[in-house]
Amino acid sequence: MAMDIVIVDSYKSMSIKAAEIIAEQVRKKNDTVLGLATGSTPEGMYACLIEMYDEKKIDFSAVVTFNLDEYIGLPPDHPQSYHHYMHRHFFDHVNVKAGNINIPHCEGRDPGSICREYERKIREAEGIDLQILGIGTNGHIGFNEPGEYLYTGTHLVELAEETIEANSRFFDSRGEVPEQAVTMGVGSIMGAARIVLLASGESKAEAVRKMCSGKVSTGHPASLLQLHRAVTVIADREAASLLKNNNPACQ
Ligand code: GLP
Repeated sequence: MAMDIVIVDSYKSMSIKAAEIIAEQVRKKNDTVLGLATGSTPEGMYACLIEMYDEKKIDFSAVVTFNLDEYIGLPPDHPQSYHHYMHRHFFDHVNVKAGNINIPHCEGRDPGSICREYERKIREAEGIDLQILGIGTNGHIGFNEPGEYLYTGTHLVELAEETIEANSRFFDSRGEVPEQAVTMGVGSIMGAARIVLLASGESKAEAVRKMCSGKVSTGHPASLLQLHRAVTVIADREAASLLKNNNPACQ
């Protein structure tokens, strides 16, 4: 069990590397089930994938996607909803079929049944082949926040203060940031055959260090990834700067 840590020089290199891993996976299995993430970190990866698609180097026509999470309280057409993000940064530019796109959608529906339905759909798709993740400054993955315990399946979550604070940069004011979300659980994430986590910038350095510390804690959800057998972390130098000699303990 080991995390493969790839340290790259720049955000651009991180994005290219991640897009190449996805492209390789989709070439190997055209009906790949991809787990997708939002946030500023994977934006460059989506841009690279669009470039590859334009150059006819990748075909998404049979690919199925599951997004990690979505805010509660934002309609899908809200510019900060993850529905909007995904269409703006990716789906509007490539040939993923609309019927193959899955993003939790809670507006006007009971979150409990949405969560159960989401888990059922993941199972029906026979699980996620490749899950892309970012990492929160507090170690969250998806919206699985640090706490006494973590949830295995897709669930409703109260966002941590630190997350609301961090994500307020995308909104006009802090008061506009939703306080709740639906997220895939750590079990849904750990069920993926392969996981690729992206981290960029100094603000992620401590979270990356703890993720690779050799200790597992629900107080740092990303640390659970150390128990997965196929995780690749792609970090730029800043995000990797607190790993001992850039040489993580978990290798
Ligand atoms: C967000 C998302 C996560 C993301 C993380 C980091 O709130 N729910 O999936 O990985 O926080 O975001 P960013 O890449 O913008 O730093």
